[in-house]
Amino acid sequence: MRAPAKLNLHLSVGRLRPDGFHDLVTVFQALGLYDQVTLTRADELTVTVEGEGADLVPLDATNLAARAVCLLAARTGNDARIAIHIRKDIPVAGGCAGGSADAAAALVGCDALWGTDLTRDQLADAGAVLGSDVPFSLHGGTALGTGRGEQLTPVLGQGNCCWVLALSEPGLSTPAVYGELDRQRHAGPVGVVSDPAEVLAALRQADAVALGRSLGNDLQPAALALRPALRSLLDAARELGALGAIVSGSGPTVAVLARDATYADALAAALTGQGQCAAVRRADGPVAGARVVEAH
Ligand code: C5P
Repeated sequence: MRAPAKLNLHLSVGRLRPDGFHDLVTVFQALGLYDQVTLTRADELTVTVEGEGADLVPLDATNLAARAVCLLAARTGNDARIAIHIRKDIPVAGGCAGGSADAAAALVGCDALWGTDLTRDQLADAGAVLGSDVPFSLHGGTALGTGRGEQLTPVLGQGNCCWVLALSEPGLSTPAVYGELDRQRHAGPVGVVSDPAEVLAALRQADAVALGRSLGNDLQPAALALRPALRSLLDAARELGALGAIVSGSGPTVAVLARDATYADALAAALTGQGQCAAVRRADGPVAGARVVEAH
């Protein structure tokens, strides 16, 4: 199975709800950068992980893919003794929904392995229990997310977006970034991104310049407060001629929009040369959500 990374082209964060989550209005896009998840029947539930940042991924029952297997096993009456192997390409703890992608891939994989033939809605319903981004990891494409991000409506769009992801050392926790935003809002007025109309219009018209101008993320000021070095990375990308640059979700990955694939490759090389980020990845969007790519 494989599942894609996500980016929030627009993320407006509303009030803190009694359940500890914030109401969101977000425009997700799935990017062609994937984690591969392999499931094999085994004597016990195990998790192994390879790839960049693998040492940061939990191998116990808190692993999101393991939780996905257990949840679906309980819901469908199947045996959760599965060996899960994850090959990470999505930045770990980077704000690109890597853990959610693994959970989405595990849900799709268990459904195939057990022949349970669940609908996408049933899988998304289970996914929402595991994390706010899991339903989108299943859905893929480009979608408007509301609620805590789990209620999805497909977004009409055309054309391809060419992205460069600038990776930084992990260490920005999602709850900490939301908490910093709450703190900033409590301390005084904080600028908020407007509604997603401009992003949606730019996508409809396949206008990359307008899309670059309209990217917005309410979590960005909070991520910058916790990781000030990200500001110079955003500035560097814009000075190099990016159409737009934005912190991805809660960060610290920065997503840089290029006018075409050739320019994206050049931007990736230039950002690598500047040495301000740990690594760069090229990825285009939108792509499909979690899929079985090879049955065992
Ligand atoms: O759902 P997920 O596991 O991604 O959420 C991680 C944390 O991020 C939550 O515990 C919460 O602190 C924060 N969050 C939030 N509002 C959302 C999504 C996430 O406050 N809509």
